[in-house]
Amino acid sequence: MTSAILGTGSALPEKIVTNDDLAKIVETSDAWISERTGIRSRRIAVGETTTTLSIDAGRRALEDAGISPEDIGLILVATLTPDGSMPNTACKVQAALGAVNAMCYELNAACSGFMYGVQTAHAFICSGIIKYALVIGAETLSKILDWTDRGTCVLFGDGAGAAIIGASKKGIISVEGGADGSKGAFLTTGNAPLCNPYTKHEATNPYVEMDGQEVFKFAVRKIPSIVQALTEKVDIEINQLDCILLHQANQRIIQTAAKRLKLPEELFPMNLDQYGNTSAASVAILLDEVHRSGKIKSGDLIALAGFGGGLTWAGILMYWI
Ligand code: UT7
Repeated sequence: MTSAILGTGSALPEKIVTNDDLAKIVETSDAWISERTGIRSRRIAVGETTTTLSIDAGRRALEDAGISPEDIGLILVATLTPDGSMPNTACKVQAALGAVNAMCYELNAACSGFMYGVQTAHAFICSGIIKYALVIGAETLSKILDWTDRGTCVLFGDGAGAAIIGASKKGIISVEGGADGSKGAFLTTGNAPLCNPYTKHEATNPYVEMDGQEVFKFAVRKIPSIVQALTEKVDIEINQLDCILLHQANQRIIQTAAKRLKLPEELFPMNLDQYGNTSAASVAILLDEVHRSGKIKSGDLIALAGFGGGLTWAGILMYWI
């Protein structure tokens, strides 16, 4: 017995912001952004929040799986941009969906968060603690971007993706993950400084800061090694994979990974041209798209892999059921 993804959903803000739109607020161009990253537009939340996007994506995943909200034993929301820290986003999703029997918590593993969440759900299900889990990756990164920094504000977008995980004879066959906290300074957001009657206030900066080239080098090394480790653990050849869904940060990272794995680029679907980097949501949104468009079918062997702030990384190998 293992666990499998039984249904997916996603939700995106209505507002589309193109590269040309950004060129009106920072010194950049469509040519620079699209050549260096592959990104052409992104969705930016105006009325939506991390909570509303999570609820919408979660509801769609429940409908797709045909599971009642009462059957969910765990709701996990992977995010680094919650609307507040208490109650956590998963509790708000629980209330909105009526998933009255679920434990609810958030996890933050930055862009690897959805894969960390699915692995956690897999462990809960395989150990018999729960029957079904709802795992959501959701972000409104637009609220922690420095909109005067062209080096970061052009890269990210808002959105959410979700999956229902449940016990199954076929499904997840291998997982992989890790972190290297010693490289944490390469990708950060501002800290919440101590602020009480016994401390001095420190200046706060909530924004994403990144050493893009270091993160790029890390990603192109790490992604192929995740996919290799996932397949080697279960004696599967890399060329048996039908589809590889990578974190949508940069088209050049995905192309380099494909080349290093000696696999055709067609096996690596992309949507970063439309949505940019949505951190914890990116692989979940892409999975929902390939599932709903019929690009993946029952029996396909699929790898998910991501990397991000922490630095963290994670991957999952599974049969689509
Ligand atoms: O979820 C994980 C998160 N992050 C990633 O995966 C990011 C990984 N890294 C990358 O994708 C790339 O490093 C970037 C796309 C972020 C940057 O590409 P790059 O080829 O490493 O460019 P660069 O940072 O070396 O900048 C090259 C030039 C610089 O100008 P000078 O110093 O050569 O005059 C930058 O100031 O491009 C300039 N630049 C821009 N120009 C126009 C930086 N951002 C922009 C911009 N528009 N938006």
